[in-house]
Amino acid sequence: MKHLTGISDLSDSDIRALLDQGHDYADALDRGDFRSERLRGRVIVNMFLENSTRTRTSFEMAALRLGASLINWDAETSSLKKGESFSDTIRTLGAMHPDALIIRSAEYNAPHMVSQMIDCPVINAGDSWREHPSQALLDAMTLERHFKTKGLSGLTIAICGDVSHSRVAGSDMQIFSRLGAKVRVIAPPFLMPNKFPVTGLETFTTLEDGLPGCDVVMMLRNQKERMNENLIPNDAAFHRQYGLSVERMALAKKNAVVMHPAPMNRGVEIADEVADDPTRSLIFTQMQNGVPARMAVLDLLLD
Ligand code: CP
Repeated sequence: MKHLTGISDLSDSDIRALLDQGHDYADALDRGDFRSERLRGRVIVNMFLENSTRTRTSFEMAALRLGASLINWDAETSSLKKGESFSDTIRTLGAMHPDALIIRSAEYNAPHMVSQMIDCPVINAGDSWREHPSQALLDAMTLERHFKTKGLSGLTIAICGDVSHSRVAGSDMQIFSRLGAKVRVIAPPFLMPNKFPVTGLETFTTLEDGLPGCDVVMMLRNQKERMNENLIPNDAAFHRQYGLSVERMALAKKNAVVMHPAPMNRGVEIADEVADDPTRSLIFTQMQNGVPARMAVLDLLLD
C-alpha cells in the first residue's frame, strides 16, 4: 500500500490493519496520555482545493499527534491564482520532496493522477463524488467500537439521501460490504445513482420502505454544489418527504444508531432532535474518531 486513493486500493488485510491501528490510537487518545515521535522529522503537505473542517483539521491533528510537521498549502495564496497549471503546481511541490501529500479536490480521481506525478504517498481526502476513503475508515471504526465487533457482519446499514453526489457513499458502500454488513441504499429517485461500486445492495426510494430492520442509518448531506440542475428547489418540502425525523428513525430497529459524515443541513436531510439524540446519534463520535483513523493512515503509509 503506497497510496490511499480509494477503498479499492486496500486489501482486506490492509483494511483490518488500519482499523486495528485506529482502535489502538483511539484507546490511547481516550486515556489522555498519548505522546508519539513516530513520524518525527517527516513533513506532510495538506492540499485542500475544496473547503473542509473535519478532514483537514483531523489530518493535521493526526500528523501533530505522531510528531510530524504539516504544511497547510493554501489555494488562495498559491501561484495557481497567477495562472500556474495544476500539474506544474504538483511538480513544484514534488520537487520539494514532502513525505506525504494529502489532497482534496473537486476533480474526478485527482489523487490517482497526482500519485503518478509525485514521489511520495498520496492520500485522498475526498475527490469529486467518487471516494472519501479516510471517512469510510473512520465510519467503519466508529461502528466497530459502538457495536463492539471486529467486522460488521450481522448489521444492516442504510445509506440515505443524496447518494448520487456523495463520495462518502462511494467509499462507505465498499468498506461496509467488505466488512460483512448488508448495505441498503435509500434515495429519492432523482438522487439515486444509476450504478454502484459494489454488487448485492438493496435499493429503496423512501425511508418508510427502507428503514425497517436497519441497525444503522447513515444520512448524507444534500450536495447542491455538485448538482447540475436545481434538484431540490425547496428544502422544507424535501425535509417533509425525505428527511430523517424522530418518527422515521423509529422505523429502524429499537437500538439503531444514526450517523452523518457532516457538515449537516439541519432541518433538511436530518432533524435536530435526531442529530442531537444522545442515545442514538454517533455523529460527533465519528468526528472524534477521525483523528485516530487518520493517525493509522499516516502511520501505515509513512512508516
Ligand atoms: N466529512 C467531511 O469530509 O467533512 P469536511 O468537508 O468538513 O472535511
